[in-house]
Amino acid sequence: MPRRLFVTTALPYANGPFHIGHIMEYIQADVWVRFQRMQGHEVHFMGADDAHGAPIMLAAEKAGKSPEAFIAEVSRGRAQYLDGFHISFDNWHSTHSPENSELSRGIYAGLKAAGLVYPRRIEQLYDPVKGMFLADRYIKGECPNCGAQDQYGDACENCSTVYAAAELKNPYSTLSGAKPELRSAEHLFFRLSDPRCVAFLQEWIDAPGRLQPQVANKAREWLQAEGERALADWDISRDAPYFGIEIPDAPGKYFYVWLDAPIGYFASFKNYCAKKGMDYQAFMTDPETEMIHFIGKDIIYFHTLFWPAMLKFSGNKLPDSVYVHGFITVSGEKMSKSRGTGISPLRYLEVGMNPEWLRYYIAAKLNANVEDVDFNPDDFLARVNADLVGKYVNIARRAAHVITKQFGGELKYEGDTGALVHGARASALSCSEFYEAREFGKVIRDIMSAADRINQAFDARQPWLLAPDTTRRRELQDICSRALHGFKLLTVLLAPVLPALASRVARELFGMDRDFVWTDAEVLPARVLPYRHLMTRIDEKQLDRLFDIAPEAPQVALPASRTPAAAQAAAAPEAAGATGTTIGIEEFAKIDLRVARIARAEPVEGADKLLRLTLDLGAESRPVFAGIKSAYQPADLEGRLTVVVANLAPRKMKFGLSQGMILAASGENSPGIYLLSPDAGAQPGMRVK
Ligand code: 2FM
Ligand code: ZN
Repeated sequence: MPRRLFVTTALPYANGPFHIGHIMEYIQADVWVRFQRMQGHEVHFMGADDAHGAPIMLAAEKAGKSPEAFIAEVSRGRAQYLDGFHISFDNWHSTHSPENSELSRGIYAGLKAAGLVYPRRIEQLYDPVKGMFLADRYIKGECPNCGAQDQYGDACENCSTVYAAAELKNPYSTLSGAKPELRSAEHLFFRLSDPRCVAFLQEWIDAPGRLQPQVANKAREWLQAEGERALADWDISRDAPYFGIEIPDAPGKYFYVWLDAPIGYFASFKNYCAKKGMDYQAFMTDPETEMIHFIGKDIIYFHTLFWPAMLKFSGNKLPDSVYVHGFITVSGEKMSKSRGTGISPLRYLEVGMNPEWLRYYIAAKLNANVEDVDFNPDDFLARVNADLVGKYVNIARRAAHVITKQFGGELKYEGDTGALVHGARASALSCSEFYEAREFGKVIRDIMSAADRINQAFDARQPWLLAPDTTRRRELQDICSRALHGFKLLTVLLAPVLPALASRVARELFGMDRDFVWTDAEVLPARVLPYRHLMTRIDEKQLDRLFDIAPEAPQVALPASRTPAAAQAAAAPEAAGATGTTIGIEEFAKIDLRVARIARAEPVEGADKLLRLTLDLGAESRPVFAGIKSAYQPADLEGRLTVVVANLAPRKMKFGLSQGMILAASGENSPGIYLLSPDAGAQPGMRVK
């Protein structure tokens, strides 16, 4: 029975380009969607920009643009990422759209009619200069508990106390610097605590297959909490100025962005139906339609409490499943735009890396749990080069040459082929169960084991010895045909992960005039066309380029692994007298040199020249990678003092983030690296000038 699937990914804020976390989510959903399409199911895969809210309004203002122009520009940038990584959304729309206004107002009216919306006056800090109410993130002041300066309006980063913004001492607006005033305003609330909502959600959460067990537990915990943490009603309105959808019966009030954001899933689909001549209403009221959301673990609350409750009490279709994934880390580090970590997806494409390498790697690391996925450059290189290219692509390369050169492209199998067909069917069945359950890592593991078996069977029959022997041609043809059947089977099974490669294999190698569908897995191929190169290995230099955002200027700013260790010194590398241009004292003063104690020194796996140092700078500690392994034993470094460039921009390196650079002397004609040390008495954190 073909299924009708309506699939979404979380809608990204329209305030900037995609980061690697978005791409990971899209790859996960896209693999699942492509698998469903290959099964012959009807799939509608929807995306859109989440365009409303105060942060976008303020970002537009800062950029000197209207919010409409600002979000339009962000939206224009989407295609290069989505096409670049072969993400096959059927439609990409925006929450700032007529469809979304209409649907949001309709849902709101439904909730109101159900008696679940009520007004309440609340007190809030107001910026008299900007003329707007301030969300906590726009208020800073002194912590009411420990007195730490410049703490945000919700919690203290110094003592971890959680408080209300109005409790901050000497508060100021981060938007204007003005002292905020406490003002009261009427807001609209959605009564999530209503017994009808609670009873409905209990049942919805518990339905089998709806949520992953750990997600259901979390949702149940929120739902059943008592006392201070008890389920609260939801503030769904914001006062002007706000970039959003105006509430029909409350002029000057707008829906809070999180109310209209998920309705954007519907808006995108409605927009798509209009383009395709499909009946939106019929589709959304069909009980057979399955609605599935892929989201990250940070937005579970919205998708397992507010969203289903909103839909239920406005008489709409409910989500059948919410599939939650973890975050992506890079070399074990949490991604952060401000610290410059993570991988830039655009940079990845710009340096000419194959998007299907990343799709393959991410698929290999994904499972159905809410676990973080780590992008480890060495692991990435090994899996793509050794497994994907070395094992899988290699099968075709070896066998197809023989078949086209010696047999005119014709495949022939000796003896009974029943077992081949049967085996293929079994592999396809087991893979389909894993795909359906989002256990992509298991799919890849099984495919690579099969590739091993195919290569071993090929080698065991030593076809290279048979080639010159004219009496054993049929045997040779059989060996190569079986290998190519295996290759075709694996390609069909990998097609959801490697759509472009699979499409080429179908057309260029097997001469088909369409892409593979799932049932092609068990059909023995009869012919091949001459082999054309399918996929290159990753060149390590590409990885270096991916992580070195600014590869020019081999001077202070280059990380240790990419410059001769000797050039680690901040000053010119050679002896005095050859220093070249002079600089003024002001320029020198820009370099923040500090005394640092090497708290830890350790080797870095896979790096010949590097040591990973943990530097104590008095008030903080930092990781720094230094190319001094040839000159120092880690144990000899621990505890000693040296000098660090403390304000060097952090550098993303293959092995992690380097936050600074230590100084060492070396000479071109005299070998050795000599770490700088201050005289006795210097303390970590002291300024060197
Ligand atoms: O967290 C976010 O990035 C939100 N823009 C996700 C919204 S998902 C859906 F509700 F639109
Ligand atoms: Zn504090």
